[in-house]
This record gives sequence, structure tokens and C-alpha cells, in this order.
Amino acid sequence: MLPLIILTHRFLLFLSNSISSEHGFMIPKTVLVTGGAGYIGSHTVLHLLLAGFKTVVIDNLHNSSQTSILRVKKLAGEFGNNLSFHKADLSDRDVLEQIFVSTKFDAVIHFAGLKAVGESVRRPLLYYNNNLSGAITLLEVMAAHGCKKLVFSSSATVYGWPKEAPCKEEFHLSAVNPYGRTKLIIEEICRDVCSSEQEWKIILLRYFNPVGAHPSGYIGEDPQGVPNNLMPFVQQVAVGKRPALTVFGNDYNTTDGTAVRDYIHVADLADGHVAALLKLDESNTGCEVYNLGSGKGTSVLEMVRAFEQASGKKIPLVIAGRRPGDAEIVYASTEKAERELKWKAKYGIDEMCRDQWNWASKNPYGYGSQEDSTD
Ligand code: UD1
Repeated sequence: MLPLIILTHRFLLFLSNSISSEHGFMIPKTVLVTGGAGYIGSHTVLHLLLAGFKTVVIDNLHNSSQTSILRVKKLAGEFGNNLSFHKADLSDRDVLEQIFVSTKFDAVIHFAGLKAVGESVRRPLLYYNNNLSGAITLLEVMAAHGCKKLVFSSSATVYGWPKEAPCKEEFHLSAVNPYGRTKLIIEEICRDVCSSEQEWKIILLRYFNPVGAHPSGYIGEDPQGVPNNLMPFVQQVAVGKRPALTVFGNDYNTTDGTAVRDYIHVADLADGHVAALLKLDESNTGCEVYNLGSGKGTSVLEMVRAFEQASGKKIPLVIAGRRPGDAEIVYASTEKAERELKWKAKYGIDEMCRDQWNWASKNPYGYGSQEDSTD
């Protein structure tokens, strides 16, 4: 019975994400996903395929692995045939042009970009050059080929150090590092592009703290080098790659003194992108912005305890001073996304930690853990 329900559900999704050809056949909508081999990108590509979209990925594999694409293909079953991949950089305008010449896209989801906060402070020009010129080239090529629907992966970082929580979309925006400033500037560029021409429809999605992995444990986050973010670090302690987690500050004005964030399961985030694409099809969107978070605040220690519970592993802690630039409490108001995208996060921190551990224990060295073949 269950497979029948799933098949019916997928068929209905396929119909809603298809357009009628001139011969009356239903053909799937086609989406270009930049940075689709990365952590959030790969999960989103899988959800797009399962929702019936044809998906073309462009990724330079700078901080990602083509193995994720192979695994997404397998996880998508028969829908995997609707996925194609180009290893290329967005700065390569000729390649981008060729991709748009060979395929007519209904929309683009733009993930590609550099995202390490510390590195952005050390190498600001690299970040401005890469993130801004990538976005501008993409928008120019889209315009030249008449594709004017975009979902942009922004971040809660644009709230800077928010004065209150939950963060609402209309809050004052500020950047506290070059990485954050690139997100803020691209948001502004998108607003200007939409104002310049009514045809453009852009949705800016502000992610809070994505964690977890696909429940299969087959795709997940595979950061290069020392992880900057909390859960990838916790995961590496659990598999014995690092001796202890350094907790940055236990003197915040929170229940246990550690900073509070809004963790969101990457599968929920992926669903948020499918919801955003559907929203773009409504005629009057222009440039809109939505928070994608769970709407709940969780402290560092609460997150560590949930992970210990899920993994059965003890995470040794070293308490240190606050990390420069960190805010005390950040979590999302999710009202607008719930109301307008009809989207709401389904998973809690126990499921996030369960799936993160499943991925970590099956792939202790990320995508380098085992060989994957293309068959
Ligand atoms: C960070 C970035 C933000 C980016 C986001 C992507 C900073 C200042 N902000 O947000 O721009 O969009 O990641 O997900 O880097 N923590 C520890 N020990 C660790 C790592 C983190 O205690 O080894 C704490 C942090 O102090 C913070 C919490 O865990 O309180 C979450 O940290 P992190 O995962 O880095 O996310 P953000 O700081 O929210």
C-alpha cells in the first residue's frame, strides 16, 4: 500500500512540476542548480528530482565532490536519469552560455559560492570577486536567454547581530564579515534586477543553521580541512578524527550560558527550495525573501547532548572564550515561509543528530571513505 501511495504522490508532483508540450505531452520543468554538488545543493537536487524536475548541475567541485552527484543519481532511482552534471566555474561565461544554449531552463537555483567566514576575513577580495562576479555573470547569462526566475541561497548572517529574536525578514540587515557582505550585496543586486524589469522573479532564502543528512546516510556534509561550523566538528570528534570540541563561550545570557542558534534539517531546507520554485510560478512575486529555519532556538550544549544521545558517543568538551563576531541568540521567525510558501520544518534536533550520525558513521572520511562507480 505504502509504495502505491508514494508512487501516486510522486506522479502528482510530476504533474504539478511539468508543462504541457505543443503536442500535449507533459514535459518536466528544467532547473539549473549552481553548486549542486555541495552539501545543501546535493540534498536539494535529490528533492527536485523526486518532485519530477529535470535538473542540471554546474559545480567547480572546489569544496564538493562529484561522488555526491553519483549518489544522488542512485538515491533518485528512475528519476536519476533526469540529472546531468557540468564541472565548471561560473566565471567561465562561455561554458555557462553553452549550457543555456543547449537547455531551456524554467528557473535557476544559485548555491555556488565561497562560504568560510574566517577565510573571507583573511581574503576579502577572493570572496568579493568569486561570489559577486559569479552571481552577476549568472544573472547576465540568464537574462540573455530569457530565463528570469531565480532562487538565491542567502543566509541568516545578513541579520548581523540581531537585537532581538526571532529574526523577521523585515529586520535591519548588516554584514559582520566579507562573506556575509557578499550575501547582502547579492540580495541587493537581486532587488535591483527585479525593480529594473517586471519579468524577473527572485526568491531569496535566508538559511539558519543547516545540519543532518539524508536518512540513507548516503549523502551529507563533507567539509574540507578543519570544520568551522558546530555539527561537522562534533561529527569529527565522534568518529575520532579530533580529540574534543571547543565550546566558544559559556557566559552568554542563555539557559546554560552557551550561544543559541536555529538548527534546521537539510532535508527540510531542500523541501524549502522546492516550495520556493513553486512560489515563483505565481505571477506577482517580484523579489521576495523568506527565512528557512525551524523557528526554535537550541544552545550549543543542548545540541551536543542530542548528538551524544543519537550516537552513543561521548563528546569531550573544552570550554573556551567567545568566538569573535558570534551573536548570542539567533533564531528564525518562520511565519512568512509557513504562510506564503506553505512550508514548515518537520524535523527536530533528535532527527537531525540521528541522520548526521548515520552519515558520519557510514562515511567517517566523507566522500573519500569508499569508492563509488558510475554504474
Ligand atoms: C556561522 C557563520 C555564518 C554562516 C553559518 C553557516 C560565523 C560568525 N558565522 O554561523 O556567517 O552563515 O555559520 O552555517 O562564523 N561553536 C562552538 N564550537 C565550534 C564551532 C561552533 O562552540 O567548534 C558554536 C558557535 O560559537 C555558535 C554555534 O556553535 O554559537 C554555531 O556555530 P556555527 O555552526 O559556526 O554557526 P553560526 O555561528 O551560527
